[in-house]
Formats: sequence, structure tokens, C-alpha cells
Amino acid sequence: MDQIVIKGGRPLNGEVSISGAKNAALPMIAATILTGGAFVFQNVPNLKDIDTICRLLADLGAKTEFSGSTARIDTTGLDRHEASYDLVRKMRASVLVLGPLLARLKRARVSLPGGCAIGARPINMHLEGLEKLGAKISLAHGYVEARAERLRGGEIFFDIPTVTGTENIMMAAALAEGTTVIRNAAREPEIIALADMLNQMGADIRDAGTTVITIHGVKSLQPVSARIIGDRIEAGTYMVAAALTGGKIRLAGVDPSHLKPVIHKLREAGAAIESNDTVITVEGGGAIRSVDIKTLPYPGFPTDMQAQFMVLMSVAGGLSVISESIFENRFIHVSELRRMGADITISGNHAMVKGVKRLSGAPVMATDLRASASLVLAGLAAENTTHISRIYHLDRGYEAIEKKFAALGAVIERVPSV
Ligand code: EPU
Repeated sequence: MDQIVIKGGRPLNGEVSISGAKNAALPMIAATILTGGAFVFQNVPNLKDIDTICRLLADLGAKTEFSGSTARIDTTGLDRHEASYDLVRKMRASVLVLGPLLARLKRARVSLPGGCAIGARPINMHLEGLEKLGAKISLAHGYVEARAERLRGGEIFFDIPTVTGTENIMMAAALAEGTTVIRNAAREPEIIALADMLNQMGADIRDAGTTVITIHGVKSLQPVSARIIGDRIEAGTYMVAAALTGGKIRLAGVDPSHLKPVIHKLREAGAAIESNDTVITVEGGGAIRSVDIKTLPYPGFPTDMQAQFMVLMSVAGGLSVISESIFENRFIHVSELRRMGADITISGNHAMVKGVKRLSGAPVMATDLRASASLVLAGLAAENTTHISRIYHLDRGYEAIEKKFAALGAVIERVPSV
């Protein structure tokens, strides 16, 4: 298996172009299931997870074609309703096909995702929401089987805001008869991006981006062309890299308003940040201050940035408490960071991070995407060499990560397996 090898300790400087957001592209590609026709997407990131959703669509009978960052998806011939275990186990977000399959084909059979490295991650709220819209759901042989001759509007109250759950219900409700109200909806920018696309297709979705989303069902939808928004988590990762290595990085291609909590915490930690509507500049170099973090649903501090921020705190000037409130097991990077010299103790969902002077390079590996990104950051800041294995996790969510860091002055390379 390939490794990433980093010789750390250099400040990173220059400009980086942020790719399209994985977590916006996935539901938007799933939304093509809702109607037959030719869709075009621009700014699609070249990632494993995007391959996986496209393979899933091809399995269902769609045609998919890539050229650079443009994806063409033709769902005219889509007529199968099953998402296999093989694809769902590769990527939990495959469950995003459930709502649209049910709306278009009136039935769906989707493998139940198992637990994953960061937590149990059930999909009960997706299923309860679809039942509220009139679907009959059963679980058999590890699959969710859903049927609905006719979806009708309903009122859904999520116990906790769920991102893909909100997306699944928005897609199913777009073609339901009558009005659906989602209360305690997730408010992530990716939800707004999906609602914008669905509305462009002819749906009537109001107030996406707030906690109460209203969807007036329509009879039919049309294919569209859409552009994927910039990836706020990829951007946040490069922003931490600037603060961590004492460099200066200019980021283009992401909306700074999606990064408010990250910008706020990085400033508290001592980074200088300037931004206009399209560009963010982050400069480190001064003392890194310890700050506390608690992950929360948007617009709170994102759980997808927790591991990366922990690396920054591991070389800060004092004690930082990092609380993870979204996933129950999202500290898997801690034991690897400890092997690189970080002083971190865990108590329940809190990590106490006592800043050390310097991290030291080591062979490490991780079992989750953002944990892997945190190890790349740690390697960039550490003295000597860090070898990161199991990097297929990185390829799921970071486009050309070693090339982008190398262009900023990092000594980093992908070493193919022998
Ligand atoms: N939850 C339930 N029941 C459900 C659904 C969720 O209990 O039916 C719980 C989850 O276990 C978790 C919380 O609700 O404790 C929130 O999870 P959510 O459903 O919002 O997560 P998700 O939709 O599965 C998306 C992102 C994740 C990101 C989370 C939180 C996509 C494709 N994935 O997952 O992204 O961490 O929201 O912001 O949008 C990543 O990109 O690395 C990643 C894991």
C-alpha cells in the first residue's frame, strides 16, 4: 500500500486552490436519481468517494463520464433500485440514494451501513423520516427495504440535526404529494447547495440553511447543470497548516463565510487571518495559544476539523480542552499523535491537550479520513521524517493532497508500495 512520507519542520507559503466539496458533491450527484436526463457538474473533486457514488449510479443504470473536474451524469436509463453492500461498506454516504430512489422508482433496497471508525452512526432518523412520508420500511438480510407507491408530505422532527438525513428527506419530499416540514434540520452550507440544485430542477424548497425547512412537493423535476461549492474542510485543513508551520497561505475557491467558526478559533490561537469574499489569507509565525474547542452542528465548530485543530493545540503554549460532541469515537488520531510526542489524555469525549515544544516524526497510520489529515499536518510540523500508511483514507476526501502541500514548500511525497 502507498505511503506518504514527509520531512517536516518547514513553514508553508504560497497559494492553494481549494477543490469542490466532497460533502456537497455526494448528495448533489445522488439527486440526479430523482429524474431521467443529462446533468452536468462543474468543480467536482477527483476523489475516491466521488468514484464510489458514480459507480453506485452506474450500478443503478445511469451513465457517468468525467473530464477533469466536469462530471456528466445521464440518468435516463436508471431503472434498478439496489445499492449493494459492497459499495455502501466503502462509503456510508451511499445511503444518500435511499430517498431519491424511493421518490423515483417507488422502491429502494440499500445495504444498511455498519458502524465505522468514528462511531456507530445509525440511520434511524433517515428511516423514521421516510416513514413519516409514507414509506413502508423493513430490514432484512442486512438491507433496508423501502417502498412507497406514493410519498406524501409530513412533519419530521429530528432528535439531533443530521446532515445526510436532512438531505435524504429533502430529496424524497421534493417529489412527494403535499408539504413536508423538517424541524431541527441540519444547517450546513452543503444542505443549502443541495436545496439550490433541487430548486433549480423545479423543486419548491424554502429556508434551507435554517432549522425549519419547508418542502412543497412538485410533480416532476428536470435535469440541470450545477457547480459544486468549495470544500470548507479542505480549506480549514490548509488554514491550520499555515498557523501550525508559521507560514502564510492564501486560499482561493472557498466561501470564507462557511469557515467562520474555524477562522474565529484560529485567530484566538494567534493566527492572523484576512479575507474578502473569495480569498482567505492565513499567517502563522507568532506564539500558538491554547484554546478550547467543542464540536457542534453547523454553525458550530465542525467535527470534521477537530483532529486537525488538535494537532495545532498539541504544539500550543498551554492546555487546551477539545470536546467532541458529534461522534462518540472520534479520537482515534490521539494514540498516533502521542507516538509523535504529543501530550494528550482522553476522558470520555474530552481530550486534554498539553502543548509540547515540538512533535517528532514517526511511522503512523489512521483509520479515518480526517484523522489521516491530522497526521499529515503533524508530519509537516514535526522534526525528522513521518511515514503515513493507509493513505487510501486521504484519497477519499483530499484531492492531490501531497501535490498541493508540495507546491506550498513541503517536502512530501507519495511512495508507491513495492
Ligand atoms: N445520527 C443518528 N441517527 C441518524 C443519523 C445520525 O443517531 O439517523 C447521529 C450520528 O451518529 C451523529 C450525529 O447524528 O452522532 C450527526 O450525524 P450526521 O447524520 O449529521 O452525519 P452524516 O450525515 O452521516 C455528515 C458528513 C460527515 C460529517 C457529519 C457531521 C457527509 C457525506 N458526511 O455525515 O463527514 O462528519 O455530517 O458534520 O456529508 C467526513 O467528511 O469526513 C465526514 C465524516
